[in-house]
Amino acid sequence: MNERFPVIPDQASALARDVDMLYLFLIGVSAFFLILIGALIIWFVFRFRRTSDTDRPAEIHGHTKLEIVWTVIPLVLVLIMFVWGAVLFFKQFRPPADAMEILVTGKQWMWKMQHPSGRWEINELHVPVGRPVKLTLTSEDVIHSFYVPAFRTKMDAVPGRYTTVWFEPTRTGSYHLFCAEYCGAEHSLMKGWIHVLPAEEYDDWAARIDPDLAELTPLEAGERLFTEMGCMACHNPASGALGPNVVGLYMSEVRLDDGRTVIADEDYIRQSIVEPMAKIVEGYQPIMPTYRGQLDESQLMQIITYIKSLE
Ligand code: CUA
Repeated sequence: MNERFPVIPDQASALARDVDMLYLFLIGVSAFFLILIGALIIWFVFRFRRTSDTDRPAEIHGHTKLEIVWTVIPLVLVLIMFVWGAVLFFKQFRPPADAMEILVTGKQWMWKMQHPSGRWEINELHVPVGRPVKLTLTSEDVIHSFYVPAFRTKMDAVPGRYTTVWFEPTRTGSYHLFCAEYCGAEHSLMKGWIHVLPAEEYDDWAARIDPDLAELTPLEAGERLFTEMGCMACHNPASGALGPNVVGLYMSEVRLDDGRTVIADEDYIRQSIVEPMAKIVEGYQPIMPTYRGQLDESQLMQIITYIKSLE
């Protein structure tokens, strides 16, 4: 594609070609009918124009075959669009189990990312080529949207909940990262770069931890916070716990005291930390204090990473 006027962005992820094929199909079908209908209108204007005052066309009273044809053809076309789009959608939002997880927090007006190795980045994200990468996103303030055109990937970062998306970069290089949701005065400056490195180069890069910052991996940081914030006091399975056990909690079924059953996903665990009264586990007292304001979103993600690791 033309460098100075890229009509279609680089195709740098495993999904990019699939998305483009669907897009071209949609454009193709739309263009075909636009031209067909436009041409017929113009032709009919001339072909059936009024030629004299007494000139009357014959009345038409329905035509079953025609009705069937112009119902079935569009139906088949939109069903193709639906199935094709749905298959692609599921593919895009179901990360493979072996995907590397990167935690992403949006805030006015920057992107903050943490790698499994512990390394932090702001407005730049290094990823390895040929490996699936899963992003878990949230926001400190308002809705942002993580958009990488070259990967055909866009996902909102929503305050108070987690969203995920994944991609597999297929080409090394640097690609634009944008915020695609209007989020305030400096929305247009909330952008950065995705750097796709050869896999070994990424491993070296990720292992280079700044000794001054003594960066911990999300798991280590979460474990430390779990102790420092006093979670241990009530959720330590060894000490006859006051609070529900967190070992094996992740993705398990939890019975609440109002009889409901919920799945303990990331959103549930997060809500239980910042809004403990919202869902009381059956058989426990509503005594947990809220940790709202005491932990930022990155720290919440780290604690959840730690709880997810307890099996
Ligand atoms: Cu963040 Cu727009």
